[in-house]
Amino acid sequence: MLSFNTDEDFSQNYKFLIGSILPRPIAVVSTRNENGTHNLAPFSFFNGFSAKPMIVGFAPIRRPNTGEKKDTLINIEREKEFVINFVTEKNADLINLAATELPYGESEYQFTGLNFLESEKIKAVRLVESPIHFECKLRDLISYGDTPGAGTLITGEVIKVHVAEEVFEEGRIITNKWNPMGRGAGNDWFKTDSIIEKTRLTKAQIQK
Ligand SMILES: Cc1cc2nc3c(=O)[nH]c(=O)nc-3n(C[C@H](O)[C@H](O)[C@H](O)COP(=O)(O)O)c2cc1C
Repeated sequence: MLSFNTDEDFSQNYKFLIGSILPRPIAVVSTRNENGTHNLAPFSFFNGFSAKPMIVGFAPIRRPNTGEKKDTLINIEREKEFVINFVTEKNADLINLAATELPYGESEYQFTGLNFLESEKIKAVRLVESPIHFECKLRDLISYGDTPGAGTLITGEVIKVHVAEEVFEEGRIITNKWNPMGRGAGNDWFKTDSIIEKTRLTKAQIQK
């Protein structure tokens, strides 16, 4: 096998992270800018960590050339809240466009033509084109440094969930009714249209 140390170029580490940890879920994070406009950006270093309290987390990394903070992090440090929205096959092209690095304060909603609606509990808004919304209050902000490629782990408590009725059946979100997409290496994305089911052995089945 090839082996390497991780104390050299951050971009090599980054390539190995995104080539190994995949398919990755994508959080489409909506935050409020200081001027009252709304920021939207996708983050695939994302997952859920606790059911009660309901905790999710994602990680913006420092900009590769300058080490500057991304707008999402700047906004969450100030506002202490955000909304997580989700990628579908339908909205994916516009979400990808929302990843364009606009000057701070310029809204990706306006830039992409995506739409927002007010949240119920927080000032950050929800993406109309997403069938699921998590309204979140900041829980933890853990910085791993301020050099290019350094991440900040942001976790939030989901205080309100919204789910479109058409993707919800018998108390569950049905995957193939909302066609989520995931992220791969480089510019690769994944569709989720070839689902297989695997059942697990129960305790009763292994008892002799
Ligand atoms: C699907 C997708 C996933 C991404 N995931 C991340 C990520 O996990 N961390 C990160 O720092 N940037 C990620 N990016 C890049 C950011 O979306 C991009 O830098 C964006 O402009 C940041 O916006 P902001 O400055 O408004 O926060 C991703 C881009 C795409 C298209």
